[in-house]
Amino acid sequence: MSFENQKKFERYTITSALPYANGPIHIGHLAGVYVPADIYARYLRLKGRDVLFIGGSDEHGVPITIKARNEGVSPQDIVDKYHGIIKKSFRDFGISFDVYSRTSNAIHHQTASAFFEKLYKNGNFIEQTSEQYYDAENKQFLADRYITGTCPHCSYEKAYGDQCESCGTSLSATDLINPKSALSGNVPQLKETKHWYLPLNEYEPWLKEWIVEGHKNDWRSTVYGQCKSWIDNGLHPRAVTRDLDWGVKVPIQGADGKVLYVWFDAPIGYISASREWAEETGNDWEKYWKDDSTKLVHFIGKDNIVFHCIIFPAMLKAEGSYILPDNVPANEFLNLENDKISTSRNWAVWLHEYLEDFPGKQDVLRYVLTANAPETKDNDFTWKDFQAKNNSELLAIFGNFINRTLVLIQKYYKGRVPAKGILNALDTVTLTELATYPEKIGHSIENYRFREAVGELMNLARLGNKYLTETEPWKTIKTDEKRVETILNIALQISANLAILSEPFIPFTSVKLKEMMGMLASHSWDAAGKDDLINEGLILPTPSLLFERIEDEAIEAQVQKLLNTKKANESQAIKASPAKENINFEDFAKMDIRVGTILEAVKVAKTKKLLQLKVDMGFDQRTIVSGIAEYFQPEEIIGKQVSVLVNLEPKTLRGIESQGMILMAENADGSLKFVAPFSNTINGSEIK
Ligand code: MF3
Ligand code: ZN
Repeated sequence: MSFENQKKFERYTITSALPYANGPIHIGHLAGVYVPADIYARYLRLKGRDVLFIGGSDEHGVPITIKARNEGVSPQDIVDKYHGIIKKSFRDFGISFDVYSRTSNAIHHQTASAFFEKLYKNGNFIEQTSEQYYDAENKQFLADRYITGTCPHCSYEKAYGDQCESCGTSLSATDLINPKSALSGNVPQLKETKHWYLPLNEYEPWLKEWIVEGHKNDWRSTVYGQCKSWIDNGLHPRAVTRDLDWGVKVPIQGADGKVLYVWFDAPIGYISASREWAEETGNDWEKYWKDDSTKLVHFIGKDNIVFHCIIFPAMLKAEGSYILPDNVPANEFLNLENDKISTSRNWAVWLHEYLEDFPGKQDVLRYVLTANAPETKDNDFTWKDFQAKNNSELLAIFGNFINRTLVLIQKYYKGRVPAKGILNALDTVTLTELATYPEKIGHSIENYRFREAVGELMNLARLGNKYLTETEPWKTIKTDEKRVETILNIALQISANLAILSEPFIPFTSVKLKEMMGMLASHSWDAAGKDDLINEGLILPTPSLLFERIEDEAIEAQVQKLLNTKKANESQAIKASPAKENINFEDFAKMDIRVGTILEAVKVAKTKKLLQLKVDMGFDQRTIVSGIAEYFQPEEIIGKQVSVLVNLEPKTLRGIESQGMILMAENADGSLKFVAPFSNTINGSEIK
């Protein structure tokens, strides 16, 4: 889309997903949502635009009540604790919210209930009674995560009533195989209950027009693709209420013991937060939500796409008086050292812990997470890369340029800014290039390409370094003192530009830099690009270093911390799965387990997990299909001895008859190891 064709907006409402207040936040949150949202908000403010940047804690939902129950405290205790921790982390990392609210606030309860009531009165809901799982012992319906069972799609045994975290499918509780109550472990009963549904199917034609036709070219392809596939697969009515006692009460007669579904109330939290902000600051919230000249942008992670692109817009559309998001630049996921970030496995870098280990280095993390942002695909955070980006980019390129410039000005002129004299060709080329940066970086930011934007910022620092390398003021000073004045004036102007243009990305550094150059904090973005930002004759204070080298020891300590986490998880996983019920010897003796040797191994076409093996059992050779392809290459296992359960009923997998099962030991992380005789044994030997 060309820039000129974009509609001119008068103000911006920027939302960032409200994190669940049931745990602290980690680098995945920061990289996925809050750093990009903050860059966008800070940039727009520097452009002089009218911005409302909203955040807050999402304090309802089943995981919070489960956690409260496990810890023997109230849900309010849980959210109070984590709301405080999360809010502080955001402040510490410079996330510049105009308001950071929370959904347990009275104003949110009022706003969400009024919203529901309006839709109810409009006749936007379907009222329906159905049978749902109920735990008789606890006298409670089992909504969402209160029920677990086996996923019908991938056979994962710990799937939840609303979602399988293994294959990512969104589920209904009644889809689960072997459902169990998460409260008592009992098999649940079915019991009738009434709920209200938003008939998403009715919004299908409109969603097709608005998203599938209307946002084909300006939404990220990952976001567009997910929306399109949801819409193409057909939309169904979604329940917007639950039988729970924690949440926003359903505000109609005969709905005792029912609350709004957390995904119905939480996005309304953006509106409640705006109202709270308006009350506190004496502003009008409505124009940020109801005026066509407002641009609404939702920053979220990819797991939130359906809620922000389909369900919440359908709610807003039903209500009738709200604007819709202009864009939803959802990020993919950030992994940590090649493994999915997981709160329950403590596989994360927690922000509060990062700050203990790297005090004052917020900008380093902000920079690394932006330079490596998971914008188009999942990305990996590694401590090695973190170190490299600090040492060879922030320090060696950005910090080094500024430091050389300021130190030379101290050395030659005692900190007094020298005058620019006559410009030569190199100066002119350099300044012409300098002038292109505000527009270039701004263009990337306005199109939500933050990695590209921060890459350009670094290119400006490179331009500065190149200029110093080519002009060599430390040599020229011996032959042409006048010329050096011009060189250092120009280098200083480039530094001043970096101070302004770095603000959205590394705001703490930007402040420090401005102080070191005697700049006012209030330079606008459009003041950048020029070569007269710092006046001749100004006396600069003694400069300090912007970045420090991060040594190997610090990185090794972090890697060790993660290794310890991995070990702790493994021993816990073994403890967590208790021995099965006793069996008698006859049961055991029924199994015919033998030693065999793998003769051939090939991948089964179009599968991720399956290998087709030919195994020599001594008394025969048989075909076995085994789900081990993710852990072994075919060539590495040929010739290996293994244990085979030979009298397991044959089973056809992908058209291949599997005549037995290879025994494997499963590690806590799901990886597999062969169970094999200690030393070479004749094929066909019995294991007993
Ligand atoms: N709490 C949700 C999550 O962490 C995000 C809620 S976003 C909102 O996935 F729009 F609902 F607020
Ligand atoms: Zn699954």
